[in-house]
Amino acid sequence: VKLWAVLPAAGVGKRMGSKIPKQYLELSGRTVIEHTLKLFVDHDRISGVVVALGPEDGYWGSTSYAAHPKVLRAAGGAERCHSVLNALLALEGRAEDADWVLVHDAARPCLRLEDLERLIDSLLDDAVGGLLGVPVRDTMKRANGGERIDATVDRSALWHAYTPQMFRLGLLRHALQDALAASDLVTDDASAIERLGQAPRLIEGHADNIKITRAEDLPLAHFHLRQQGRID
Ligand code: CTP
Ligand code: MG
Repeated sequence: VKLWAVLPAAGVGKRMGSKIPKQYLELSGRTVIEHTLKLFVDHDRISGVVVALGPEDGYWGSTSYAAHPKVLRAAGGAERCHSVLNALLALEGRAEDADWVLVHDAARPCLRLEDLERLIDSLLDDAVGGLLGVPVRDTMKRANGGERIDATVDRSALWHAYTPQMFRLGLLRHALQDALAASDLVTDDASAIERLGQAPRLIEGHADNIKITRAEDLPLAHFHLRQQGRID
């Protein structure tokens, strides 16, 4: 059984508000996606990495991984779930349905190697698979449509869903195809598995595995990388 990585990188970064998609913005001396790719490409348990790229992508060719033998490309789609499914289909012929796939947002460059290792080690014997997550720290309120509080939600049951999300290739492909056939545009991979009545496992990771979303997240990511000793 092999391990593969899938990096959805076909977003346009609307909330970032920059002309260059956020995965290609400069962060501490290289692009965001280069930081993200390094962890997976250098990992000797991972057989290959598929990046899903947008149709208008004019930046991938200038990254340091464009011609790397371990990296394959796939065409991204309209939503993240389409991009991930296309990347899984690009593995056909190389990978087996029983192989594991780690789906990780290209926009999360601060993933720690130790969290990646713990996720893999915790799930290799699991029947379903799972994902990195972080327990919610703040008190959570549910609003009733507007700004008025409807209820205080029990925080102890709530987690932030992070990536990587790790599932068997065959199961995840089936789950995403089933979701798309029902026009359910799931925002993460676990949601597609949950729709089938299966319960992915939550593996606690570090909260610095942020998804770069808005402009203020770039200096924050720089800080996290430096705290982790990954840059000077
Ligand atoms: N992604 C993708 N294909 C899409 C949309 C998103 O591969 N059609 C990827 C993004 O490139 C990113 C990850 O999925 O690495 C998480 O998505 P998100 O943070 O929402 O990125 P964007 O969609 O680019 O940002 P925004 O929603 O602000 O436009
Ligand atoms: Mg998006």
